[in-house]
Amino acid sequence: MKKVSIKDVAKEAGVSLTTVSHILNHKQERFSQATIDKVLTAKDKLGYIPNKNAQQLRGHTIKLIGVLVPSLTNPFFSAIMQSMEQHKPDYVDLFFLSTSGDHLEHNIKHLVERGMDGLVIARLIDQPESMNNYLERHNVPYVVLDQSEDNGYTDIIRTDEQTGGALAAAHLIDLNHQHIAIVQPYEMMSNMQARVKGFEDYCESHDVQKPLKIETELSPSGGKQIVDQIIDSQVTAVFAINDEMAIGIIRGLKERGKAVPEEISVVGYDNISFSQYMTPALTTVAQPIALIGETALRLIVKKITETDQGVERIELPNELVVRETTQQLNQ
Ligand code: RIB
Repeated sequence: MKKVSIKDVAKEAGVSLTTVSHILNHKQERFSQATIDKVLTAKDKLGYIPNKNAQQLRGHTIKLIGVLVPSLTNPFFSAIMQSMEQHKPDYVDLFFLSTSGDHLEHNIKHLVERGMDGLVIARLIDQPESMNNYLERHNVPYVVLDQSEDNGYTDIIRTDEQTGGALAAAHLIDLNHQHIAIVQPYEMMSNMQARVKGFEDYCESHDVQKPLKIETELSPSGGKQIVDQIIDSQVTAVFAINDEMAIGIIRGLKERGKAVPEEISVVGYDNISFSQYMTPALTTVAQPIALIGETALRLIVKKITETDQGVERIELPNELVVRETTQQLNQ
């Protein structure tokens, strides 16, 4: 079947090629609504799809941004990606890639070789200096997020993780909990370490015994797998490093006949979309997820399209959202 061309659209709409090109490239100001409608109707009727590669060759400036995340399925990262999609200008195309820490460097190079104009990196960079040199050499700006380490090289979006951890601790201690477990992943990112430090420091400054640490995989099943350790330790409350783990823990506790929050309180971290809808609804420390995505997108677009700007470091606040998985401990 012959591919529909811009010429076909012009013929169908009864207007010039230039008119179609302007209208489809969002330069519609000087055209009447009737002309715009004619072009859009012809485009839809013929099923015309603009060839972005061809546009680029003709000198249009479509910008390609690669986004590297640790997981495409974790709702935290899906919501960040969704927010980027929603806020991207028309001249930007986003490419999402999930990567393990081991493959990060390889995947960054792969995206650069595929012609990305900029990168958003939401995974801890092990060798920040060499990575920065590589990206600078290839003139590819980048923005990092979801990591606490500020290596001073590039724009970074962080949330206030220490305060986030402290908010969770304060809530549980206010409810009288003194024996608390922190459930954390085997591989702790620097932002998670900051979260735990905030929690532990708050406990220490309020004379609450040091929380027990339980390690597992960073996933709902990881949370579910360690509920026996939680039960055996006789803690009255759990702080899970993220909501996915908290959801697994609550499920596991229920299957073992333990009621949340009546017997054990659980606090999560992130405030992914499911947290408000589950039963009981999850008490959690909310990261401003949509704002993180929007801010990252705005910064990388600025770095690609403007010259001579300095490095921006943005710290966004976290807040406690109290729902149904925590309760006052009766003494
Ligand atoms: O759920 C994903 C978690 O890993 C989030 O807490 C995020 O901050 C990341 O570190």
